Amino acid sequence: METAEIRRRFLAHFETAGHTVVPSAPLLFDDPNLLFVNAGMVPFKPYFLGQETPPFDRATSVQKCVRTLDIEEVGKTTRHGTFFQMNGNFSFGDYFKAGAIEHAWNLITGSVDDGGLGFDPATIWVTVLHTDTESRELWKKIAGLPDERIQNRGLLDNYWHMGVPGPGGPCSEIYVDRGAQYGPDGGPEADEDRFLEIWNLVFMQEEITNVRAKDQFEVVAPLPHQNIDTGMGLERVAYLLQGKENMYEIDEVFPVISRAEELTGRRYGADPVDDVRFRVIADHVRSGLMLIGDGVTPGNESRGYVLRRLLRRAVRSMRLLGYDDPALPALLPVSQERMRSSYPELEKDFARISQIAFAEEEAFRQTLGKGTQIFDLHARNAKEAGRAGLSGDAAFTLHDTYGFPIDLTLEMAEEQGLSVDADGFRSLMAEQRARAKADAKSKKGLHADTTAYRAALDAHGPTDWLAYTSLATESRVVALLAGGEPTPALGAGSLGEVVLDRTPFYAESGGQNADAGHLVWSGGPAGSGRAEVLDVQRPIKGLVVHQVRVLEGELTLDVDLEALVDPEWRTGARQAHSGTHVVHAALREVLGPTALQSGSYNRPGYLRLDFGWGSALAPDQLREVEEASNRALRADLPVSANLMTIAQAKEAGALALFGETYGEQVRVVEIGGPWSRELCGGTHVEHSSQIGTVVLTSDSSVGAGNRRVEALVGIEGFAYLARERDLVAQLSGLLKVKPDDIPGRVGDLVERLKATERELDKIRAAELLSGAGTLAEGAKDVAGTAVVATRLDGVGGGDLRTLALDVRNRLGQDRPAVVALFGVTDGKPSVVIALNPGAIDRGLSAGDLVRSAGEQIGGRGGGKADVAQGGGTDASGVDAAIATVESAVSGA
Ligand code: ALA
Repeated sequence: METAEIRRRFLAHFETAGHTVVPSAPLLFDDPNLLFVNAGMVPFKPYFLGQETPPFDRATSVQKCVRTLDIEEVGKTTRHGTFFQMNGNFSFGDYFKAGAIEHAWNLITGSVDDGGLGFDPATIWVTVLHTDTESRELWKKIAGLPDERIQNRGLLDNYWHMGVPGPGGPCSEIYVDRGAQYGPDGGPEADEDRFLEIWNLVFMQEEITNVRAKDQFEVVAPLPHQNIDTGMGLERVAYLLQGKENMYEIDEVFPVISRAEELTGRRYGADPVDDVRFRVIADHVRSGLMLIGDGVTPGNESRGYVLRRLLRRAVRSMRLLGYDDPALPALLPVSQERMRSSYPELEKDFARISQIAFAEEEAFRQTLGKGTQIFDLHARNAKEAGRAGLSGDAAFTLHDTYGFPIDLTLEMAEEQGLSVDADGFRSLMAEQRARAKADAKSKKGLHADTTAYRAALDAHGPTDWLAYTSLATESRVVALLAGGEPTPALGAGSLGEVVLDRTPFYAESGGQNADAGHLVWSGGPAGSGRAEVLDVQRPIKGLVVHQVRVLEGELTLDVDLEALVDPEWRTGARQAHSGTHVVHAALREVLGPTALQSGSYNRPGYLRLDFGWGSALAPDQLREVEEASNRALRADLPVSANLMTIAQAKEAGALALFGETYGEQVRVVEIGGPWSRELCGGTHVEHSSQIGTVVLTSDSSVGAGNRRVEALVGIEGFAYLARERDLVAQLSGLLKVKPDDIPGRVGDLVERLKATERELDKIRAAELLSGAGTLAEGAKDVAGTAVVATRLDGVGGGDLRTLALDVRNRLGQDRPAVVALFGVTDGKPSVVIALNPGAIDRGLSAGDLVRSAGEQIGGRGGGKADVAQGGGTDASGVDAAIATVESAVSGA
């Protein structure tokens, strides 16, 4: 049974049973505790916790998931995939244990003809939490399972939570016995390879916190309702139903292995070591595809780093299979072709996805080149010094500077019989991480520990956020923090964080910088006062936090105040944010639809936009983008913001559909209708002409496959142009021509300068040559050879050579002659040595002489026996070099 068919049957089974089918949320999810969505329940978390009211009592989904903790296990076991799909059914206060068990049992053992999955009931085993006798009884009653096929297990195996504070509960896992050839009898307790877990039913009933391990946490309180959360591993069921040995061999994954076989000429199944590599490739290529599809780009931090590591591991595995050419262009399309029936957006978006993936492979190829040299150096040094391996320091440099993942270093070291101080490496990494974290914290002024924020949210509810409609509000201080801890008051001069019941301040998000402004109060217990708002963030959903410095008076809890956004600032912020959308649309107009934004930042007067593009923009492309932007401003396009569902937004072709969830209303900002349509929560102008002007100031590279354009908008744009105009005016004054004639005039001047330099060169050469006679006349006799060896300051290159040859000619052929001229220009010595045939007959060679003279002047050189030249770095050695030449002649 094809994977897509299993997914279809699953959803149909639960839809028939009254569940709403909910599309998969993207892998990136707005939850600061999670790198990626790692279970089907993640999008439903607020419903389980009772924070939001679900629009349905029952739901079902097939959720895209990524887990990378077990990345080292990929390919080695039958069931570890970094990307996988979790089929789930969910009840929010509706049915509980009995319902969950019944639905699951009917689907897995239902006959294939009736829409079931057709597992033989005799092969099914289950586990329950040892204290959960109720579930044991239900399994016996509903499924007729005998007691011995229901095994008790502890919290470690049969209690499920997210690994972070959130909902949790006891669970019951369903296993399929694959047969005696896969391991010993005795159920999942005895062997989890033979008995394969396919489905986990979680009886979600309490909120937990202080999670230290799977079985170590504290229960905060029972949840408002008893809920059901289940997860069936789609890939696992697929490999069982397709009669395969593991998840890498199913229809959605194996074609990548086949392609890799063709490319490498090796066979899957021939060598266990190679097989692991094949599976790593198939798994990682698919995960990379899905992650980029959901908006992740490779980088050195968190999500970007995971993606980078996956792609690089895939590429390296291809190399280890002997394939050195770019591999992703051959493999990624195969994976896309298999996945697109379930995820059609992959096909639509493939140009962008592949561009990002291919650029990352290219970057890795370069890294490998450079890093391998550094690695070899360290390896040689270690061997020469008789050490057993590479230091942690070396491994860290390789990682930090040359982008070598530690596992690559480990593997390469092992090939050379060397070890690596992995502990040393890890502690350096930890130090670096701590530094980065402290850095990020000091930048944001916000605290990683969100306890205080949560308490404020619980006590006062979400901040009433009025940034779209107001610049000033009457507000009340509902929470005050100093150094991350609640405080009753903030004195003059101190820094702290303020939560208001409502606020007109825009909190930094979507690339738009936070608003600037003031809080002003007059009726506090300590009289009146004023605070400057330095930053505004939303550290947790629903809560706006102002970072302030108290300028005058004392700011106290519960005081009523006026929250005032600086209107000038906001005008600039709106111009800059709308300007960002305009530049994005203009880029896509000029470069095509793959020039998609990958990041942005804007503040009054300034914007920058990062986008997927492989090469520098030509000057006329930049000009075109700027012109398209300003044409859009002149057209005075209307700007509007509308709330709509994800489906409507997709239908309308809105950009940046990453990180949104199905249920949410999204805000779509349009400039000129379809010309620019983006998901955005920012503040914008009303008409494009209010942006004023857009002036592109730079285009630069920000990592593989990504470029950054920067622009000035509004008054700052004009100011920039005015500065340029001043410059032109100054030049025009200096050159005494009209501005339009400046390039012609400068061109003329440059031409004339060159002609003058040429003229000067000729004169100097003539002068030099006239000096040749004097030099020849001053020749010394060294053991019967005429020798001219001297230093000439200010003469170099071609002149020196011409002169040396001229002097040699003047010395004639009557006796052996050696001319050695040392020129010094800009403090750098150079040398030309010329010999006549008589000197060569005496066994001298210009090449040899230049080499030994070169040693004295810190350089090298060479040439033939009659003429040779060289250069050096140390002019103070010229006298010694002259002596060297003379003594060589006297010894010949
Ligand atoms: N949330 C449960 C799991 O991930 C179903 O296993």
